[in-house]
Amino acid sequence: MNRAPKVKSNLEYLRKLFIMPDSPDKFIEFGHELLEMIHDFFKEKGGIHSSITLPELNYIFDKTAIPDEPHLIKDVLSEIKTKIIAHSVKVGNPYYIGHMISAIPYFMILLEMITAALNQNQVKIETAKASSFVERELVAWLHRLIYEKPEQYYRKNIQNPQVAIGNVTADGTLANLTALLVAREKAFPAQKNFPGARTAGMARALAHYGYARGVVIVSTRGHYSIKKAGNLLGIGEENILSIPVDKHNRMDLGKLDRRLKTLEKGDDAGTKLIAVVGIAGTTETGNVDNLKALAEIARETGAHFHVDACWGGSAMLVDEYRPLFKGIEQADSVSIDAHKLLYCPMSMGIILMQNERDLNLIRHSSQYIIRKNSVDTGRFTIEGSRPFAALKPWAALKIIGREGYGLLLKQAKKSTTTLQTLIDGCGNFETLNLPELFILNYRFIPETVRQKITFLQNRTGSASAEISPKRREQQIRKVNHLINGLNIKLHKALRRDDTSFVSRTTLESTRYRPQRIVVLRAVVVNPLTNAQILEEIVDTQNRIGLEIWEEFKPVYKRICEEYQL
Ligand SMILES: Cc1ncc(COP(=O)(O)O)c(C=O)c1O
Repeated sequence: MNRAPKVKSNLEYLRKLFIMPDSPDKFIEFGHELLEMIHDFFKEKGGIHSSITLPELNYIFDKTAIPDEPHLIKDVLSEIKTKIIAHSVKVGNPYYIGHMISAIPYFMILLEMITAALNQNQVKIETAKASSFVERELVAWLHRLIYEKPEQYYRKNIQNPQVAIGNVTADGTLANLTALLVAREKAFPAQKNFPGARTAGMARALAHYGYARGVVIVSTRGHYSIKKAGNLLGIGEENILSIPVDKHNRMDLGKLDRRLKTLEKGDDAGTKLIAVVGIAGTTETGNVDNLKALAEIARETGAHFHVDACWGGSAMLVDEYRPLFKGIEQADSVSIDAHKLLYCPMSMGIILMQNERDLNLIRHSSQYIIRKNSVDTGRFTIEGSRPFAALKPWAALKIIGREGYGLLLKQAKKSTTTLQTLIDGCGNFETLNLPELFILNYRFIPETVRQKITFLQNRTGSASAEISPKRREQQIRKVNHLINGLNIKLHKALRRDDTSFVSRTTLESTRYRPQRIVVLRAVVVNPLTNAQILEEIVDTQNRIGLEIWEEFKPVYKRICEEYQL
């Protein structure tokens, strides 16, 4: 930028920027240039990540002061191209199957332009006219997808400004926060001599109702946004109680039952159960809690039932997935992310409320906007200013349609199954979850080691075995520990190889539970990822895995000798 021609700081030039850059022609010209730049980014072959190092990026972006003089748009665009686009992660690459992010339909980029061009602020009708109605229509569509209330219900509430059957939020974190904010109000409602938790605060709410603390229950697979909400709402992170999961990563109902019973006794006496959170598609494993059972428990205990369907909720567009979500229709609230399975760009969440009056519990008004008797959407939201993000899922649901999403998600399932088949067929891998919603957890484990561990596992507990079950468990732990190290190393090597990308996590819920197992995590939702690509990915992982295994072999040999394996 240093040698770029300077621009005179005159108001006339700046004014033109506001109407359109320099002239209408320039606007179109830059528009074309910009689209070409974006297109080039997508056409580019090669690695998923740029080879630039983090210290090098630090060096590029280390100017500590705001530039004084204006720069030409074309110079800044060229800087964006060389310094930013060139070093962005190709999350849409079909070999990128590591996170809940995928390719997006190209029309999303154009819709994003409309959002920016219109620059509506969804907080109030004075700054968002038609877009407020679009947002409410989108909320109704998704509400109906989940709750399937009668047509008259939606006729009455879809555009009724006195209620909100849901909010569009910045992301899933805000959607979950909104749900728990409502839950807290319901747990400590206003009554005579008490104005409600939102006015009085948590300390007075607990004192008024005679409780020592309020808790929220979620499984150990819960997304960390639930803990954040615990912090922000004054509930306390330690009062977000994590219930262990079963072997399919669903909240263990037996353990939940036992935990609920202890809540009534001893040190836990005086605990108010604010909410039970079910997960419909856990972040790490994509599994769905038994929502029907959790709904029943929430009803019996009088707690708010929230379903975090940020990941999986959109799969309800496809009839064959609906049985997986049984019980979701009983949830008091449901959160869904548009930037996940609706294939929208970052970011937009949505919170849906079964009871159209619930969001009134957090309703706000102000003198200059969102007045009490206004029709402003902002009366019901945590956020103030909000973009017209709803345009993207609203238009996408029309352009792609329910049928189209059905095909996309069927393809995602097919790809997940293909990957699992390749993994299981290779011999040097082990699948470690039941992939319900396009997420597969697995690890690299050389065939001989896998066979040994399976043999040991099958003999654990056997009375005829010559070694005690405890000793055998120690052996399994030791080998697993080694394989954990191997998978961490493999994951780092795959990052360096950079021809593909999967993520990594550690699970305590695999068949080796409670031992924590390092797993590779594939999220297979990109419709451009095909069987041949998956085969290449598995081949690469197998090849590099076997190379690294050579380093681990001597240690494995020592373990075998020490434990007489
Ligand atoms: C199950 C679940 N809930 C909530 C979130 C939070 O969503 P966001 O990142 O949009 O805030 C995620 C994100 O991955 C998630 O997987």
